[in-house]
Amino acid sequence: MRNLAVLTSGGDAPGMNAAIRAVVRTGLSHGINVWGVYQGYSGLIEGNFKRLGARDVGSIIQRGGTILGSARCPEFHTEEGRELALRRLRGAGIDGLIVIGGNGSQTGAEALHSMGFPVVGVASTIDNDLYGSDVTIGVDTALNVALNAIDNLKVTASSHRRALLVEVMGRKCGYLALMSGIAGGAEAIVLPEVDVPPEQIAERIQEGYERGKPHAIVVVAEGARYNAEGLCAYFRENGLLTGYEFRSTVLGYVQRGATPTCADRLLATWLGSSAADEIIAGTTGILVGTSKGEIAKTPLEEVVKGFKPLPSWFLKAAEMLAR
Ligand code: F6P
Repeated sequence: MRNLAVLTSGGDAPGMNAAIRAVVRTGLSHGINVWGVYQGYSGLIEGNFKRLGARDVGSIIQRGGTILGSARCPEFHTEEGRELALRRLRGAGIDGLIVIGGNGSQTGAEALHSMGFPVVGVASTIDNDLYGSDVTIGVDTALNVALNAIDNLKVTASSHRRALLVEVMGRKCGYLALMSGIAGGAEAIVLPEVDVPPEQIAERIQEGYERGKPHAIVVVAEGARYNAEGLCAYFRENGLLTGYEFRSTVLGYVQRGATPTCADRLLATWLGSSAADEIIAGTTGILVGTSKGEIAKTPLEEVVKGFKPLPSWFLKAAEMLAR
């Protein structure tokens, strides 16, 4: 291998820059040229490549987002788009690609791999819903942002004896809601995976009110049947929750743009560098993630078909602990 490329794709995640830095510097240490592809798969299709030296990735380890830019690219879902991307890669003399991203990004990586191009994926998404890695780049930071907000909201909720519904990210997966809800001591957690009727949620909050609780925190995943505003509207329209006044707060993108925590910088460095080592050694068509504290290499075919469930202990504990 002489020329290795790296791209970031899908929703950005805190720690992506640390992963890019690790790929570049590991590649350079093997005497290989490393190229950055800008704006994810769109940049691949447009041939938007730039050779990166060690200094180009200096002082980025602490920065959120991605210096390479990211995109969701509908064109890459078409055969023509993928053929064009492949021609661009081959035309630029690139002989391996590292894809840093989540489910959609690794589906793209698998497509390129099945077209015969050497690809290695790096597990990165704040949703932590990627099969093949216990933990993904960005989730620790996103959780800490959500937790900080929940702690603050609990303070003001207590001052005013209110119920606050906090919406966190996760269209398809409730991992962020579940874990930040448990860590934040939420009274109720609402997930896309578990359909709880709003009446039941209101009842639980009301019980807390009657027992004299000064506040109620409800953590809601954005992809739940009712999001935070939807739940508030339902409560209002149906005359539920007569005790507390209630309000909703949507955290949204603040969870994605934060400065990466120490855990995310270390994970990203480990995964990025290991991915570069793998592809340089000739192992391709895999996702590099972690399992039980070790590097896990999972075939991309399995990753795209696999399903990662929510951690069952925490799912049960959420019920038991919210008293
Ligand atoms: O990257 C994951 C994620 O932040 C999800 O939690 C969220 O549902 C989605 O991306 C939002 O994507 P977009 O920024 O493309 O609207």
